[in-house]
Amino acid sequence: MAKEKLGVLCSGRGTDLQSIIDAIAGGKLDAEIAVVLTDKPDVMALERAAKAGIRNVCVNRKEYGDRQPFEEALVKELQAAGVTLVILAGFMRILSPYFVHLYSGRIMNIHPALLPSFGGAHAHRDALAYGVKVSGCTVHFVDEGMDSGPIILQAAVPVYDDDTEESLGARVLEQEHVIYPKAIQLYVEGRLKVEGRKVIILNEERM
Ligand code: GAR
Repeated sequence: MAKEKLGVLCSGRGTDLQSIIDAIAGGKLDAEIAVVLTDKPDVMALERAAKAGIRNVCVNRKEYGDRQPFEEALVKELQAAGVTLVILAGFMRILSPYFVHLYSGRIMNIHPALLPSFGGAHAHRDALAYGVKVSGCTVHFVDEGMDSGPIILQAAVPVYDDDTEESLGARVLEQEHVIYPKAIQLYVEGRLKVEGRKVIILNEERM
């Protein structure tokens, strides 16, 4: 059977991308990364893709005035690469309804908090300021809202009194690198069934 073709969108360092590259190389994820796209030049994600021999393109947001032509350029690259599942991995832009409809049910995102708490761009700062004792990360399908789509997998980590954004971020990131490849593999296996807000995991392993 043809492999799921992933298009991974990143804005920066690309450690989530790396976890997907490594899971594929290690036989834990049965998919292929067809293209890595970034919205900024000179980011580590492009280097990581190049090192792994993956097609990588910067669609520089600064070269586009409105969001629509920028997203059309992204779509052109995704279509040219035959992408069937879009993976947002530290992609720090909100996608418009145009893009979300085009890939409806076929866009995943990872967010560094236990949604619906602490959505947005400063999850760790917000979690620390609130004083929560547990935080974590969430893989979800993308809908038209921000960090609001149906939740696929979550992982929790403790928050300590002396945590900084950096220390909490690092603890959460370790879990991101575990659950993102896992969530994608569940999709690849056809085991994710969306019923309204809920994602049912077929034949789920229980602890
Ligand atoms: C990750 O922590 C990811 O959850 C977060 O950006 C970081 C990217 O790290 N994404 C968001 O905040 C999306 N709202 P990476 O570039 O090393 O993969």
